[in-house]
Amino acid sequence: PTAPVPITVVDGLAESLPARDGEFDAAVVALVLCTVPDQASALAEIGRTLRPGGELRFFEHVAADEASRLHRTQRLLDATLWPKLFAGCHTGRDTIAAITDAGFVIEELRRFHFPAGSNSPSSPCVHGRATWPAAPRQR
Ligand SMILES: C[S@@+](CC[C@H](N)C(=O)[O-])C[C@H]1O[C@@H](n2cnc3c(N)ncnc32)[C@H](O)[C@@H]1O
Repeated sequence: PTAPVPITVVDGLAESLPARDGEFDAAVVALVLCTVPDQASALAEIGRTLRPGGELRFFEHVAADEASRLHRTQRLLDATLWPKLFAGCHTGRDTIAAITDAGFVIEELRRFHFPAGSNSPSSPCVHGRATWPAAPRQR
């Protein structure tokens, strides 16, 4: 495979990225915030490595609408079999709330089911873009 930019692959964990503060213009998470042990730690660490105004681009499967039967199914699965079967994956995480709670500002957000028309526990998805503010709020 070829790419128009240089690529370096390094080992690391989301909660402890091998990168300096503000080193990156952008970060991408794709189907990983469902599985990290602690979303808040992972997102704080991503924010640490982004420059002010840097972007987080995300594609994740997330919790269904709270009032739905699917949401109740997700909660049951997450408390029982699903994480054991799928290496720590959770179906019912409110990942958009976690992204905003971490201090990011959502700029673009699309919600959809994948595959289209599916009502499987991992089908509700979000895709979008958030920015790390110039002056992250104090916690
Ligand atoms: C559902 S898989 C998705 C893999 C890949 N992103 C994809 O879309 O095919 C979840 C991934 O999260 C990774 N993961 C779990 N905990 C992690 C952590 N603390 N830091 C970084 N990655 C982690 C796992 O290694 C696994 O590859």
